[in-house]
Amino acid sequence: MTKVWDGFIRGFHWLLVVGLVTLYITGEEGMMELHFVTGYLLLALMATRLIWGLFGSQTAKLSALFHSPKAIVSAIKSSKSHVGHNPAGSQMVLVFFVLIIVQLGSGLMTTDDILVEGPLAQYVSYDLVEIAGDIHHINIDILLAAIAIHIVAIVMYRLKGQNLVKTLLTGKQENAAVAPKMKSGIVAYFIFIILSVLLLLTWGAEPLNSLL
Ligand code: HEM
Ligand code: HEM
Repeated sequence: MTKVWDGFIRGFHWLLVVGLVTLYITGEEGMMELHFVTGYLLLALMATRLIWGLFGSQTAKLSALFHSPKAIVSAIKSSKSHVGHNPAGSQMVLVFFVLIIVQLGSGLMTTDDILVEGPLAQYVSYDLVEIAGDIHHINIDILLAAIAIHIVAIVMYRLKGQNLVKTLLTGKQENAAVAPKMKSGIVAYFIFIILSVLLLLTWGAEPLNSLL
């Protein structure tokens, strides 16, 4: 067994899932205090993932996500297992990162036109707030479609004999071709906690107070 996913990548994935589900429900139900607080925690999580993508384990590196079209096509055709995200899966990861950043960024500039507005709305023009609101509404549907494709792809890999979920849960892979350079995920959790506290003490203070 070879360690291929560090503790942060494994935790990041499931915290991301829980965070997005919470944001979807609270957004649709208009539970804005919880929506904002969860939004700031997800912002801290995503920022940590990007930082970890620069300094973290080899399989967490952002540079490992970029591949030539040829490598992507051959990864789709092949059923060989891969250490880390394969070139095709890497494209999905990049799409997720962009969609999540767009959702977070547009949220920070949007308003429900009644009680609350994102912390950046006051600094931008009214037109931009309107556009951010439209993007926040439309992008969520694209994100949902991407999640559906992601889950179908995971099931298809399972049918081809690769249990990617087990590898993501345990962090370990059987018959890995190489042993990637790993780093302790604890460092990343430390960064995540610091960013979360900073965001909750500033932008998050008001919604958090109303919740407590
Ligand atoms: C809200 C729903 C989900 C989102 C937004 C999401 C997003 C992501 C992202 C961004 C990654 C890349 C991880 C990284 O490098 O940081 C990933 C990987 C992965 N996800 Fe999800 N995911 C979701 C749900 C699920 C579910 C329900 C499953 C299980 C059925 C799953 C299984 C996996 C697996 C196995 C990988 C690793 C793929 C590989 O080996 O290359 N995901 N997901
Ligand atoms: C990836 C993170 C996020 C997701 C998935 C998300 C999702 C949603 C959803 C599904 C809605 C309901 C939209 C609708 O009624 O059609 C919504 C509304 C809203 N979100 Fe977010 N959101 C996120 C982040 C944020 C952040 C960080 C903020 C601000 C700090 C924010 C502020 C708002 C506001 C003000 C509304 C109300 C818009 C309206 O009533 O027109 N969101 N969000």
